[in-house]
Amino acid sequence: MKLSVKEFDAMQMGWRKWYIEKIELKTFMKFGLKICGSDILEVGCGSGYAASLITRETPNSYTGLDIMPEQLAIACGRNLPNAVFVEGSADDLTQFPDGSFDAILDFCILHHVEDWRIFFDESRRVLKDNGSIYIADLSRKCIHMVDAVLHWGHAEEVLFSLQELETEANQRGFETVYKENVLDLEGYFRFRKK
Ligand SMILES: C[S@@+](CC[C@H](N)C(=O)[O-])C[C@H]1O[C@@H](n2cnc3c(N)ncnc32)[C@H](O)[C@@H]1O
Repeated sequence: MKLSVKEFDAMQMGWRKWYIEKIELKTFMKFGLKICGSDILEVGCGSGYAASLITRETPNSYTGLDIMPEQLAIACGRNLPNAVFVEGSADDLTQFPDGSFDAILDFCILHHVEDWRIFFDESRRVLKDNGSIYIADLSRKCIHMVDAVLHWGHAEEVLFSLQELETEANQRGFETVYKENVLDLEGYFRFRKK
């Protein structure tokens, strides 16, 4: 699902970069994310800011996936070492072979993905044994609050509660290793492939 112009603008702002680096990526590291030597897939990589942080830590490979070619063009322009950027949707990972990645990262994009439940099935297939998904994402309650103030116009049918997200991951072959819930607004999870 493409972004509204307002959300697109907000994504490029300094506060969002600060939040990715100081809160979300830091939480993933606290949850055990090992970047050095790993094969990493980031879904919804946008213009590649998280990619620029991740590739500094020398992964074996970094793949950024996004549905917006305009975003991918900016990400490619960063010329990051060991990084590839590809067009596609987080709910269709068929372009990747089974067992390709050690970790899949989501920095606040699953609430845009129409078939976010299928994302878990696809992730399970492309993760190596013992691989994990690291999620930082916003609940239905949070999106309702944001939309009431900023009128970003998220699609209602795509939204989830943090409990629904976890239940779905658990039912689709993942165990919850770590989780943090910020006022039921943003949730952080590490789900490991069973
Ligand atoms: C709110 S932005 C987040 C971007 C970046 N992860 C960040 O935190 O700044 C959402 C991004 O997800 C992408 N996106 C939306 N739906 C997607 C989907 N189904 N699959 C992959 N990317 C998607 C958009 O194109 C956009 O780049």
